[in-house]
Amino acid sequence: MTAAKSAIKICPSILAGDFAWLARECKRVEEGGADWLHIDVMDGQFVPNITIGPQIVAAINRSTTLFLDVHLMIYNPFDYVERFVEAGADQITIHFEATEDVDDTLSFIRRVGVRAGLSFSPETSASMIPRFLSMCDTLLLMTVKPGFGGQPFMPEVLEKIRFTREVLNKIEIRERGVRSKDKSVPPFDIQVDGGINVETAALAAEAGANLFVAGTSLFSQSNMKEAIGALREVAQKNFHEK
Ligand code: DX5
Ligand code: ZN
Repeated sequence: MTAAKSAIKICPSILAGDFAWLARECKRVEEGGADWLHIDVMDGQFVPNITIGPQIVAAINRSTTLFLDVHLMIYNPFDYVERFVEAGADQITIHFEATEDVDDTLSFIRRVGVRAGLSFSPETSASMIPRFLSMCDTLLLMTVKPGFGGQPFMPEVLEKIRFTREVLNKIEIRERGVRSKDKSVPPFDIQVDGGINVETAALAAEAGANLFVAGTSLFSQSNMKEAIGALREVAQKNFHEK
């Protein structure tokens, strides 16, 4: 099924929040009208930064009812899937570049009952993408080099977003009958993460992205509700059903 305008989701990244007040920051996001809460897990190996583990995800889960979108920037993600699910993850995204077992890990994530996401770093070729589309529910196209918040958006990723949405539209036309009968199959999402603000969200939405992760641009505003609303408005205006 083709993603409709209502498919737009805004996912604030807690990495840009104040960790001294984690529960309060989660509430701020929830009350601000966010769809999902994005949680960046980094191991200091796959990326040069260390952030959040399962224990903190569990604490976040106690502080909010939001859907928890857990982005694993770690090697050997298979070994940690169950721990993050127990902690409250609703979607687990792994990196294509971080494991030899992409297929097994994605099917394991689905088997344990949460949505599976697959992420591609900016330098990874788009030609790798099509064979994985049936194995995941979300494709995360990184719009910065993973590892840190606050980096500028990389416009060269727009081409990859456009390519992925075009491939998806072809697959979806072929599978539309099956998909529309099976309501349990979630619509496919293209997520962008890194340097997303009102200007870059417009570009990414126009190229075909419908899930928007934003850290710095949201948490730097005093009015979270207005900031989320502005991002949503620009995304909806520029996302065209194909
Ligand atoms: C970067 C992380 C992002 C980060 C985005 O590796 O995956 O989720 O929090 O932060 P901003 O929006 O500040 O670029
Ligand atoms: Zn992220």
